[in-house]
Parts: sequence; C-alpha cells; structure tokens
Amino acid sequence: MSATSRLQTGSAFDPWREWNDHEGPMAAVAAAILAANPRNVQAWQFEVAEDRIEVFLDPAREEGALDPFHRELYVGLGCALENLVLAARANGYAPKVTLMPGDPGHAATVVLGSGTPDKGELYQAIPLRRTNRAPFQKRPIPDALLTEMAGLGDDLESSSLMLFADDAGRKKVGTLLIAATEEIVKDEEQSKDGYVWFRKSKREIEQHRDGNIIDTQGLARPISAIGKMLPRQSRSTADRFWLRQTRNVHTATAAAYGMIVVPDAADNACRVEGGRLLQRIHLFATARGLGLGHLNMFFVRSDRERQTGAEPRFTKALAEITGDRGEGLACFRLGYPTRPAAASPRRDLTDVVR
Ligand SMILES: Cc1cc2nc3c(=O)[nH]c(=O)nc-3n(C[C@H](O)[C@H](O)[C@H](O)COP(=O)(O)O)c2cc1C
Repeated sequence: MSATSRLQTGSAFDPWREWNDHEGPMAAVAAAILAANPRNVQAWQFEVAEDRIEVFLDPAREEGALDPFHRELYVGLGCALENLVLAARANGYAPKVTLMPGDPGHAATVVLGSGTPDKGELYQAIPLRRTNRAPFQKRPIPDALLTEMAGLGDDLESSSLMLFADDAGRKKVGTLLIAATEEIVKDEEQSKDGYVWFRKSKREIEQHRDGNIIDTQGLARPISAIGKMLPRQSRSTADRFWLRQTRNVHTATAAAYGMIVVPDAADNACRVEGGRLLQRIHLFATARGLGLGHLNMFFVRSDRERQTGAEPRFTKALAEITGDRGEGLACFRLGYPTRPAAASPRRDLTDVVR
C-alpha cells in the first residue's frame, strides 16, 4: 500500500507538486517548506543569497497558549532545516549549518559551498512524507528497523531518540498523552488557540494555505467526504473528536512511540537540532513504509504549567520517563498505517522568502 494518497487539487497543494521545479538555493527552500511543523502554522521565513540561506522564526504565526515559549515553533524550524540541508546536498551543495547564529529568532545560517549531488532515500521521501492520523495495523515494527532509526542522529551534537515499543512503555506514554489531551480541552485558552487553526472549506484552505484540514485527520474517505458537507464543528465538538481519536485510535493503535530528547528543551539550539532529528526520522519512516503521527500534548501541558505556575504534574511525569537521558522535546507514534495520509496545505514560496 502506498503511504501517500493522490494530491488534492488547488494552489494550496502546489508546493508539493512543484517542489522539484526550482534551481539553486531556492530548490532547498522549496523542500524546506514541505516539512512537518506544529499545527501547520509554518512559522518560518528565509533569506536567500547565492551562497547562503538564513532561516528565521516568524513570530507573527505563533500558537498562543499552546506553545507559550515557542518550543514547538523552533522544533518546526529544525524540521524545515533538515529538508533544506537534504535538498541542498541533492542539488550539489555541501551545506554547513550554524544554529542560532546571533539574534533571537535567527534559527540557522546555512553556508552552501559546493559538493557532489547526493539524492539519498531521505531526500526522495521529502514529497511523500505526511503526518498519519489513521489507525495503525496490529503489526509490530521489526527491531532492526527501530535500531536503524535510533542511529539516525548519531552525527548530531545533542539530540537522541528514546523508543517505547514494549507494552509497559507504550502504556505509560499513551496514558500520559490521553491525560494531557483531557487537560488541554478543559483549558479554554488552549482549546481556543487550537481551534483557530482549523480550516474547513476549500475556500478557507485556498485563502490561508495553512492549519489543519479534514483530509488530514486520518478518517476513511467516505467519512471525510461527509465531514466536508456538514456545517463547521463547534469548538467543543472538535475537542471531543480529538480526545476520542487520541484515546481510541492514535494511542490505541500505536505500535511504538519515539521521543526526541535533548540536554535542555528550553534552549533554542537544542530545539532546532532536535527538530532536524524529528524530520529525519519522519522521512526515514516514510521511506520504509511506516506511518508516523506527532503527539505532543504532554509537552504542551508541561509548558503551560510553567507559564501559569500550576502544579508540575506533566513536567514531573516526563522527567520520570526520560530520566538521565535528558529532557523530552517532541513525541510521535509509529506503526504500519491502515490508510494513506493526505497532504496538508502550504503557503507559497513568495510568502516566506524575504
Ligand atoms: C513540533 C511539532 C509538534 C506537533 N504536534 C502535533 C500534535 O500534537 N498532534 C498532531 O496531530 N500533529 C502534530 N504535529 C504535526 C503537524 O500538525 C503537521 O506536521 C502539520 O500539520 C503539517 O502536516 P504534514 O506533517 O502532514 O506535512 C506536530 C508537528 C511538529 C513539528
């Protein structure tokens, strides 16, 4: 089964069709904007010269109470950076990356240099990668594949992968994710800040070219089609749907979880580097026929605890899980998908290159 369904029509999906039509440094940026990123807010901007590319945070596109310290936004910039580096190599550059080179918000400088074109399996997976929110099959992931995945960050300075594939580990992570989702939907500000990124109609999708859409919710096609015909869901209905999917589908069918750990999850360089590893893993999973769905609700709650001074329930539980490995930065579930995932919209290159 192909992990990727046919691309939807409309200009919001053109960046997936046209990603390979560019030359020089723009070819790398065209790949960068296809990366995973929180809630598909696409909080990135690029400055492009012949010999270098600068990657910046776009603070105007933040997630409010869901990401009060911009942890997720910087991880998303790291995901974009990984695609950028892979595409630069594929186009005959030898990119050299400096993380957080100066001003806050300046996530990376990439000096291009010249090299030998390398179009490896991760690069080829760039246009095929999708976040998969469908049920996964009851089929374990071979140990050898997980071991190979765990080695993907060996060249990185501070990021590594923790895997939870046994029953006890999966239960612990899954239970905590469900509990965190329950807290998010009870928190009106967080619930509202998530709802604003939902795009229902084709017109809205074409207008904004960002956010979450019905097609990417992992539903069977007829259910998606009905969902599109119905009136827009209220916030509370959308929250109930999300909690139900988290409980009955996303955690219930996860064959394994992965967690990116870094020495300091509040440090932007760690976040960007961890994002690179996250994207690399997602591309690797895609290349090997695995589905991957990002699930970060306990980090969202942990940051919220820090912001509001609430009892550090999730912060403590996460520290117990990661132990002396470091601090958790991003989490995802893995498994063999029962359905291909649909693409999410992307803004045009002209909107993100300054
Ligand atoms: C740091 C980060 C956090 C994310 N958190 C979640 C999450 O908690 N739940 C979820 O369903 N998707 C999550 N995602 C996936 C994004 O929503 C997804 O990447 C985005 O909508 C673009 O879709 P695509 O990955 O299919 O291109 C996250 C992605 C990143 C990079």
